[in-house]
Amino acid sequence: MSGPIVTIASLKGGSGKTTLACCLAVHWHIKGFKPLLIDADPQRSVVRLGERERRLGGIDILEKPDKDVWKISRQATADHGITIVDTPGFDSDITVAALAVADLVLIPVKASPLDVDRMMDTVKTLMGGVKGWAPTFRLVLTQTTRGSVISRHVRGELEEGGFPLLSSDMPNRVAYAEAGLYGATPSLTAPDGPAAQDIAAIAGETEALLETKKALTA
Ligand SMILES: Nc1ncnc2c1ncn2[C@@H]1O[C@H](COP(=O)(O)OP(=O)(O)OP(=O)(O)O)[C@@H](O)[C@H]1O
Ligand SMILES: [Mg+2]
Repeated sequence: MSGPIVTIASLKGGSGKTTLACCLAVHWHIKGFKPLLIDADPQRSVVRLGERERRLGGIDILEKPDKDVWKISRQATADHGITIVDTPGFDSDITVAALAVADLVLIPVKASPLDVDRMMDTVKTLMGGVKGWAPTFRLVLTQTTRGSVISRHVRGELEEGGFPLLSSDMPNRVAYAEAGLYGATPSLTAPDGPAAQDIAAIAGETEALLETKKALTA
C-alpha cells in the first residue's frame, strides 16, 4: 500500500513552507507514520536543518531539487507511510512537478494583504491545472497573532473569496526558530507545548482530508 504525498507550496518566499514541512514530518515520525521528507528546494533548507544536532529526530530526508521530484515521490511512497515535499519559494518546474504528484497541497500564507496577493499566484497555478489536473489544496494561515484583527480579517476575506482554509493556524511563536537551532522542531523539544499542539491540530486536519480523499477514490 502506498502512502499519500503532501506538497507544501507557495510562490511567496518566507511564508513558512520549510517550517511547516519539517514540523509535520517530525510530528508524523513521532506518531509512527514512517514519513519521508523531500527537499525539492535548491536552497537546501531542510537538508541543512537535518545536518544539525537533533537531525530532525532522525527522519528520512531526500534531496531532489529538480523536476524529477515527482518520480522520486511516487517511488518513495512504497516504503513510507506519508511523503512531504518542501518546494522552492519561486515559480519553477520543480514546484509544478511537486504539485502534479500531490494528493494534497498545503499553501502557507501570512495574514497580510501583500502575502495574500502573492498567494493568489500559487492558487492560479493550481486552479489552472497541472497537466490538466487541479490538485486538492488548503491554505494554512501562518505567523498569525492570536486574536489579532488582521488575522481575523484575512481569514474572513479568504473564506468569503471561497478559498479553502484549514481551521487551525500556525501562530507566530519563537519556539520554531529556537528548536531549529538544534535541528529540531517543537514536537521534539517541547512535545506538550503550544507550538507542538498547533502542529498536531494542522496534522490532524490534514490526516482527515487525506482519509476523505482516499475514501472517495476507493
Ligand atoms: N509560525 C511561525 N512563528 C514564528 N516564526 C516562523 C513561523 N513560521 C516560520 N517562521 C520563521 O519565518 C522564517 C521563514 O520561514 P521558512 O523558512 O519556513 O519559510 P519558507 O516559505 O520555507 O521560505 P523560502 O521561500 O525561502 O523557502 C524563518 O525564520 C522561520 O523560523
Ligand atoms: Mg523554504
